[in-house]
Amino acid sequence: MMSPKDYIDKNKKRFIDELIELLKMPSVSADPSFKKDVLNTADAVKDSLKNAGCDLVEICETPGYPIVYGEKIIDSKLPTVLIYGHYDVQPPDPIDLWDNPPFEPVIKTTEVHPDGAIFARGACDDKGQMYMHVKAMEYMTANNDLPCNVKFMIEGEEEVGSVSLEWFLERNQERLANDVILISDTGMISKDTPSITTGLRGLSYVEVEVTGPNRDLHSGLYGGAVANPINILSKMIADLHDENNHITIPGFYDKVEELSTKEREKMGEAPFDLEDYKSHIDIPEIHGEHGFTTNERGSIRPTLDVNGIWGGYIGEGAKTVIPSKAFAKISMRLVPNQDWREITELFKKHFENIAPSSVSVKVKPHHGGQAYVTPIDSTAYKAADLAFKETFGKPAIPQRSGGSIPIVSLFEKYMKSKTVLMGFGLNSDAIHSPNEHFGIWNYLKGIETIPYFYKHFTKLKMNS
Ligand code: BES
Ligand code: MN
Ligand code: MN
Repeated sequence: MMSPKDYIDKNKKRFIDELIELLKMPSVSADPSFKKDVLNTADAVKDSLKNAGCDLVEICETPGYPIVYGEKIIDSKLPTVLIYGHYDVQPPDPIDLWDNPPFEPVIKTTEVHPDGAIFARGACDDKGQMYMHVKAMEYMTANNDLPCNVKFMIEGEEEVGSVSLEWFLERNQERLANDVILISDTGMISKDTPSITTGLRGLSYVEVEVTGPNRDLHSGLYGGAVANPINILSKMIADLHDENNHITIPGFYDKVEELSTKEREKMGEAPFDLEDYKSHIDIPEIHGEHGFTTNERGSIRPTLDVNGIWGGYIGEGAKTVIPSKAFAKISMRLVPNQDWREITELFKKHFENIAPSSVSVKVKPHHGGQAYVTPIDSTAYKAADLAFKETFGKPAIPQRSGGSIPIVSLFEKYMKSKTVLMGFGLNSDAIHSPNEHFGIWNYLKGIETIPYFYKHFTKLKMNS
């Protein structure tokens, strides 16, 4: 039997070429003008699952974009691994800032990726990482090395909130039954530090509107005597943090989970260079909640950030005006035990409360999702750790990520199974940004590591 490494060496060029073809398809779920491309991408994913050895593949219609389903059931007494991923991508904007067109993939070397990286929208998030699973499946079926049953569920709406996926979960619980869910849609610490993502943050996204006078006013005639909604909004936003950068919303921290010293210590072992961190994003100094490290601020602590703010005159030159309205989009990243609906409600109440009587305030909730955390002593975690040991020669470091995949907490609700997040992307891969890329080394290492997860998970499960 050929090892994953030998099989990859033999098929490397084809594996890269196939991913490049997939990346040429602009499957932007947020923009309806790409609808045809999104649907074509679903078809391409379906074909790839068939070619990789799935016995049954299907395009499952939903009220939104379809879910691609595939399976190979070899023995009902064996465990079942369910692979989740997404074939949709973020909009490529701002297009001007790409060095090459976002849907014309090119391979270029970088400092972190001397073996080359594929530059394209979706290269890392999540087509490249999702396709690692398709190629790992091909290896296992072609080499008689599939130790258990496998199901694939690849969706096309992750970047817009996975609305149809919940609809699909509700209706297909039996068909999707599994022993573990495996996802590669996160990152790793560095190329020589494998890590398993043990947590994702939740999200509450709101939009606020502050209204003062019923029309824009002359700032000389009325200035100083009438509340300026932009001044007021700025002050209200500033007041959402205190001098220690704690969030001031009453009750906001009430349910925030405290981490065990053991996990905090283990997290602290992750290599981190503050000077590198600052220079990569060109900041003179770091900033954040008092009493926590940079790593902790970006993972195990909840946050509140303004994503956009507008109002008044922003055209050429100057216009003297007191605007009637001011707006902001605000997101809160949440941690385990904080309920996103409850936090949205707390925000709304507080924001209305701190508004002076000279203005009126509207809070419009957008979307949200629960945080996720998984223990490091589960069979699933152990299997992932053993897999990394085989291909990296060292155990993985558990890592809480700051990002969100809201559907993961719903998997537990509908399918009662644990999720393992084995990510192969790097923070420098620029997901959601111009010049997104995925290292070829990372891509191939992922394909190599995944079959070992199947092997160890099946072994541990059968012996438990
Ligand atoms: N794959 C990302 C989430 C991610 C990236 C988690 C890196 C951990 C490390 C996912 O596609 C994403 O972008 N999620 C969104 C939320 C969603 C509701 C649009 C996010 O985190 O902003
Ligand atoms: Mn993703
Ligand atoms: Mn994303």
